[in-house]
Amino acid sequence: MTEKINYCEPVFRPPSEAYSLLIQLTEGCTFKCDFCMSNLRKHFLVREVEDVKKDLNIAKKLYANRIKKIFFLDGNAMVTPAEKLLEVVKYAKELFPNLERCAVYAHAKDILKKSDEQLRELSDSGLKMAYVGFESGYNKLLKAVNKHATKEEFIAASKKLFKADITLSATLINGLGGAGNLELSEMHAKESADLVNKICPLDDRLWYIAFLTLMVPQGTEIYKEKARGKFKEMDQFEILHELKIFMQNIKFANKNANCIFRSNHASNYLPIKGILDRDKDKIISTLNYGLNHPEVMRPEFYRGL
Ligand SMILES: C[S@@+](CC[C@H](N)C(=O)[O-])C[C@H]1O[C@@H](n2cnc3c(N)ncnc32)[C@H](O)[C@@H]1O
Ligand code: SF4
Repeated sequence: MTEKINYCEPVFRPPSEAYSLLIQLTEGCTFKCDFCMSNLRKHFLVREVEDVKKDLNIAKKLYANRIKKIFFLDGNAMVTPAEKLLEVVKYAKELFPNLERCAVYAHAKDILKKSDEQLRELSDSGLKMAYVGFESGYNKLLKAVNKHATKEEFIAASKKLFKADITLSATLINGLGGAGNLELSEMHAKESADLVNKICPLDDRLWYIAFLTLMVPQGTEIYKEKARGKFKEMDQFEILHELKIFMQNIKFANKNANCIFRSNHASNYLPIKGILDRDKDKIISTLNYGLNHPEVMRPEFYRGL
């Protein structure tokens, strides 16, 4: 019988890891953000290194040397103690000679708990990408959704990643504050732009900022709020308007910045891609086009996480 790699379902991975080998390093998440379903049906666990190695060995038998990318699940695998994470990344690198990078989801607090030296060692061993959920740069909103992180922590965590040469891929959530509070929406957009402006590195390395649009998955706190009539989602026009304010407030001091901007996830109404801040005007034109031609927007029933 073929041996199987262990997965604790359901698992979540970034769209850009679609062709990566997925290996369960942790299960669930240590946080419980109001909008997220990552930890709903799981008890948090860091798996034993020997069990993770067994899964890597099975993958080696199945895929031989074809593995180029590994994504270590689950919701915040960066919480894994540095020595354990390092052992697993080094083992993967030895096992797969063509491995180009390992990646993880990382909550800002778990990045900050690691020293610069530990992050550098992880990076040198093959951990080359961290997907960090900013969600917003507005502290009031971050607190309201129980993100357990502040704008200042996102800035500090991003700088630590850049220093260690670990590529940052950060996500923000369009419509996170819900409908009916224009001031909150404007602050979310402006403070998020300010956060992105403040982390922009001075060189031309690649980094990624993506906007998802809020979905309300069953079982989450935000779902319960909606059921109680306390939360209403923004409509597609409010969503694009919020994104437009974000874009208008993007201003990088470094004109050689290479920030890949994406808002083309399945949750988004309008697919947008560009490089910040040089494509800012083009992106604003696309948003204006969407606002004036709602027929080009993704229909509600096609949206998903
Ligand atoms: C699986 S989470 C992992 C992020 C990581 N644990 C962190 O907190 O930095 C990946 C990202 O999906 C996005 N996400 C999660 N739930 C969402 C929802 N209901 N609507 C839109 N985006 C969501 C958030 O941007 C979140 O950071
Ligand atoms: S967004 Fe990240 S930290 Fe928050 S519950 Fe989901 S996986 Fe955990």
